[in-house]
Amino acid sequence: MGKIKVGIIGTGGIGERVMNAFLSHPEADVLEVFDGNAKRLAEVSAKYGIAAAADYRALFDNPDINLIYIAVPPKFHHQYVMEALHSGKNVLCEKPLASTVAEADEMLEAAESTGLMHAVNFPTIFGGGFLELERLARNGFLGNLRRVELHCHFEEWPRKWQQNSWISSRDQGGFVREVFPHYIQIILHLFGKISDVRSSLELPDDPEWCETGIIASGRLSNGVPVLFNGLSGLGMKEELRFNLYGDEGTLSLRNWSELWAARKNEPLQRIEVEGSNSYHAFIDELVKAFEGQPARIISFQRGRDVQEILDKLLKE
Ligand SMILES: NC(=O)c1ccc[n+]([C@@H]2O[C@H](COP(=O)([O-])OP(=O)(O)OC[C@H]3O[C@@H](n4cnc5c(N)ncnc54)[C@H](O)[C@@H]3O)[C@@H](O)[C@H]2O)c1
Repeated sequence: MGKIKVGIIGTGGIGERVMNAFLSHPEADVLEVFDGNAKRLAEVSAKYGIAAAADYRALFDNPDINLIYIAVPPKFHHQYVMEALHSGKNVLCEKPLASTVAEADEMLEAAESTGLMHAVNFPTIFGGGFLELERLARNGFLGNLRRVELHCHFEEWPRKWQQNSWISSRDQGGFVREVFPHYIQIILHLFGKISDVRSSLELPDDPEWCETGIIASGRLSNGVPVLFNGLSGLGMKEELRFNLYGDEGTLSLRNWSELWAARKNEPLQRIEVEGSNSYHAFIDELVKAFEGQPARIISFQRGRDVQEILDKLLKE
């Protein structure tokens, strides 16, 4: 059995995907799972032959489990994270870390006071496309950075393949909470703080329903503008573009993993990058963190900083 022995709370879409990643990693195993939906819990438990807990507290009481992975909808992250930390378990929490920055502050404080490992699941930074973008951006490819832009355009929200009870709700769903955190985290990772955040949301009349559009901006500490542009309900296939414009070069990460680049006087061209299994790489880093080595882990501090920007973007 590997070093990381996981208990999972929430075995929905991402919970099952990450569970598969843990199960296929030689240094990890999944010991017990819990889901609030008894039918779903029974299905997943039977499919993978993993013990199903009748009560989530059983995971905290299981002395063999050394990491709790929380993959429930955002509204419930705070409650489970706080209980997991108080029971002495290391925690991997799904993004966004919390529902509000006030919750995220409490979670960060609790995590830091225990000395336990705390991480937020941002897999994009372990993918080949992002790693090459980071390498180029840090090695002067852009020249002077002039602008950072995020464009997220959706044919519809929620997407056809992502129908569940919360993904379109104003209090915990919407594409700003669901997709933007990955890119906000990347901006903070590459360039540091974003300040002066201003946002204009397009909201439907139904107060229960999430945003349908956003135009927002912020600034990096050196004054470089950051633009956020999101829209759903469009006559086009989903398209995500994260663009870094410099005076010597431009980099564009498209649809999560495709890297495009141009130098001065050249058109943008796709750059082939080595495909990498981002979850395998992520779990490698978790293993290093468990061994007390330096590891590329996104901590609750970053999760909290992402949440602060999210709150500002979503302020009505
Ligand atoms: N890191 C990523 O790349 C990524 C990708 C997708 C989703 N997510 C995040 O993961 C979380 C879950 O998303 P999802 O798409 O898997 O949602 P989902 O609705 O498919 O799954 C959520 C699961 O949690 C269960 N659940 C709901 N409330 C619960 C509660 N109070 N207690 C216990 N179980 C409960 C549901 O029965 C369901 O099985 C969200 O925070 C989402 O933003 C992250």
